[in-house]
Amino acid sequence: MSAGLVCSCNKASGRSIVYRPSNVLTGAKARLIFHSKGHNFQPLKGTGRARREVTVRVMAAAGERMTVTVTGAGGRTGKIVLQKLLAQPDKFEARGVVRNAKSAEKLQGEGVPADKLYVGDIVKGTEQLKKSLAGADALVIATSAVPQIKPLSLLTVFWKKLLRQEGARPDFSFKEGQFPEQIDWIGQKAQIDAAKEAGVKKVVLISSMGGTDENHPLNKLGNGNILIWKRKAEEYLINSGAFDYTIIHPGGLIDGEGGKRELILGVDDKLLKNSSRSIPRADVAELTVQCLTLAEARNRSIDVITKLPGDGSPTTDYAALLASLTADCKYGSVIKATVNA
Ligand SMILES: NC(=O)c1ccc[n+]([C@@H]2O[C@H](COP(=O)([O-])OP(=O)(O)OC[C@H]3O[C@@H](n4cnc5c(N)ncnc54)[C@H](OP(=O)(O)O)[C@@H]3O)[C@@H](O)[C@H]2O)c1
Repeated sequence: MSAGLVCSCNKASGRSIVYRPSNVLTGAKARLIFHSKGHNFQPLKGTGRARREVTVRVMAAAGERMTVTVTGAGGRTGKIVLQKLLAQPDKFEARGVVRNAKSAEKLQGEGVPADKLYVGDIVKGTEQLKKSLAGADALVIATSAVPQIKPLSLLTVFWKKLLRQEGARPDFSFKEGQFPEQIDWIGQKAQIDAAKEAGVKKVVLISSMGGTDENHPLNKLGNGNILIWKRKAEEYLINSGAFDYTIIHPGGLIDGEGGKRELILGVDDKLLKNSSRSIPRADVAELTVQCLTLAEARNRSIDVITKLPGDGSPTTDYAALLASLTADCKYGSVIKATVNA
């Protein structure tokens, strides 16, 4: 195949389709751009690395939008992802799945149309999730178990502070039935299975940095082993072999405006050595949206933090950012030793 041609197979007809510069949308640097329902996402033959190095953007072709379901859409990052997708109706048809009616009402109050929302607790069943995935091209997973502060432990913290004792921290727990094992492993596995059943082609999973360290303090939180269960779901996604995936491991999430900082990518938690390890949720959400369509994001697992505002230049070219990192996070040892489920 000569450079400049992109070949894909139409699943419905079995025909091969050659995309020439004349029948694809072109962007900056004359990138080849294509996406179509019923076509697979193979922009070029070759190894994943070789594919990534070629700047090919997988995007909805003119008049054809990518249908994306976002779970955890009532959450702080999930909500921004959903809003970003809804703000681009020419490119995306967006749907959000929230845990309960209260979250749905809140989103509606912020302008999300009711007909875009599906209400269903992932622990209680996947009926609504499955409805939301009917005809979807992509799934963004932004659900997570949410630790709750044990109110009484705050008294101990207050008392220790009064006595100027160091190391005073509140205790956390998870609601019954909403532990990381249920949400971050069983719940995410259920989402991946439902996406597979629905014929989804791309999954972006928002997870967390810290997963290489079994003894990470976040695992101690409420005895939830949250990073271990998240990691297990990541492996499940990778091994599913059913779709393209991108796994994003953000550093510490902060609120505030996105698009003001330079993103830094890494692998295997090496960025945890940085003195500043945070990233605004809005920047994670933008990266998530970009990863839905960028070929450079295909089958990647990456860590991400940001520089401080004013250091470096705010990231705008996500294809270049993703292409600048050639490595991917490695998997294997930690969870296998710890979790037998
Ligand atoms: N906090 C950090 O510093 C940090 C750092 C790195 C990575 N992360 C990870 O980044 C991701 C996004 O974080 P975030 O703080 O934006 O998340 P978040 O606000 O805690 O949102 C989590 C979402 O998951 C939903 N959820 C939980 N259990 C559910 C269930 N059983 N069924 C359906 N939905 C359920 C929650 O629903 P409700 O709205 O109903 O509660 C919520 O919308 C998470 O995976 C988080 O662990 C966080």
